Amino acid sequence: MYRFFFRLVFRRMDPEQAHHVAFAWIRLAARIPVLRTFAAAVLAPRHKELRTEALGLRMHGPFGLAAGFDKNAAAIDGMAMLGFDHVEIGTVTAQPQPGNPKKRLFRLVADRALINRMGFNNDGSAAVARRLAERTAGKPAFRTTVGVNIGKTKIVPEAEAVADYVTSTERLAAHADYLVVNVSSPNTPGLRNLQATEALRPLLTAVREAADRTVTDRRVPLLVKIAPDLADEDVDAVADLAVELGLDGIIATNTTIAREGLGLCTPQRTVEAIGAGGLSGAPLKQRSLEVLRRLYARVGDRITLVGVGGVETADDVWERILAGATLVQGYSAFIYEGPFWCRAIHRGLAERLAASPYATLADAVGAEHRKVTA
Ligand SMILES: Cc1cc2nc3c(=O)[nH]c(=O)nc-3n(C[C@H](O)[C@H](O)[C@H](O)COP(=O)(O)O)c2cc1C
Repeated sequence: MYRFFFRLVFRRMDPEQAHHVAFAWIRLAARIPVLRTFAAAVLAPRHKELRTEALGLRMHGPFGLAAGFDKNAAAIDGMAMLGFDHVEIGTVTAQPQPGNPKKRLFRLVADRALINRMGFNNDGSAAVARRLAERTAGKPAFRTTVGVNIGKTKIVPEAEAVADYVTSTERLAAHADYLVVNVSSPNTPGLRNLQATEALRPLLTAVREAADRTVTDRRVPLLVKIAPDLADEDVDAVADLAVELGLDGIIATNTTIAREGLGLCTPQRTVEAIGAGGLSGAPLKQRSLEVLRRLYARVGDRITLVGVGGVETADDVWERILAGATLVQGYSAFIYEGPFWCRAIHRGLAERLAASPYATLADAVGAEHRKVTA
C-alpha cells in the first residue's frame, strides 16, 4: 500500500519536498488526540519481551530513529506514534544555519539508498532547546527516549570547534536523555577531522565537563557517532579512546562518502551527476555492520554500541544485536517502507527472539562473538 503510494506520489516529488510533506502529516496526526491514539495502537503495538535497558534508560524496544530526520525536535511525538523506541534529534549546531544550497537530497531508488548533502540545516541550539523545554512542560503525548545529536556550526573554524560544541551542550544537555557528539557527517568541511584522537580527546572531554556542569541531578550519557569510512585502525583508536574517557556509547555509523565497492545498481553516470554527499541505505549495510563488529570485538560490553546504516528488516536489526548493538537505528529505509516499518520490525524481532536460544534481547547482544570464541 505505502509502496504503491510512494511510487505514485512521493517518487514524483523532489525528495526534500516529499520529506516536508510527510513530516507535516506526521506532526499533524500527532497533534490530534484521537488520530494519535489510533495510529499508535495500529503502528506501535508494544512487545513486552523487547523492552530494553540501555545507557541507564528504559525503552519500549531497541529500535530508534537515526539523527537527521527530525533535525529541530519538531516531531518527537509523531515519530514515537509511528513506533520508534527512541528518537535522536539533530544534528543541532550552536548557531542556526540554512545548510547547503538545494538540491541536496537524492534518491537511488534501485538501490534503496539516499545521497544527501544537507549540511546541518537547523534552527540552532538555543531554539531547539526552547522547543524541547516546551514539549516537556506541555506534558508530552508519548514518553519516549530523546537523544540530542550536536555538531559544529559551518562558519566556525575547526580551531574553535570545541567551544561551539560546548555552547550547544550547555543549552541542550538538560533536555537530552542522551547526548551525541557528531564528528562524522561528510557535509560540513573539516568535521570528520575531529575523529582523529588528538582532536577527539579534548572535544569529548570538554563536552563531558560541560554536560556535568550544566546538569547536576543526573549524569547525561555521552556518545560519539563515527563514519563508516574510517580505516580499521582508526575505528580501534576511537574505541580505545571511548573506553579511556568513560564514554557511554558509540554510534556506528554515519553515511559514507564512498561510491565504489557498494554494489550500486544505479548507473555510475547518474551517481556521478548527483555529486558529493553521504550515501545511506541498503548499500551501507555491510560496512556499517563490519564497523560494529570491530567495535564490539574491541570494547565488548564496556560501552553501549548503537548500530545504524542500511538497516531495513527485523533480520537486519537482529543481526546488529548479535554483532554487538544494544540499540539499533534507521533512517533511509523509513523513506522506502513507510509508516508500517517499525511495526514490522518489532513483530519480526519478537519472532526472532522467541525462536532463539536467548531469554532476552540483552542476552543476544554480541552473541555471535561468544559463539566464535567458545
Ligand atoms: C537526509 C539525511 C540527513 C541526515 N542528517 C544527519 C544528521 O544531521 N546528523 C547525523 O548524525 N546523521 C545524519 N544522517 C545519517 C543518519 O543518521 C544515519 O547515520 C545514516 O543515514 C545511516 O542510516 P540509514 O542507512 O538507516 O539511513 C542523515 C541521513 C540522511 C539520509
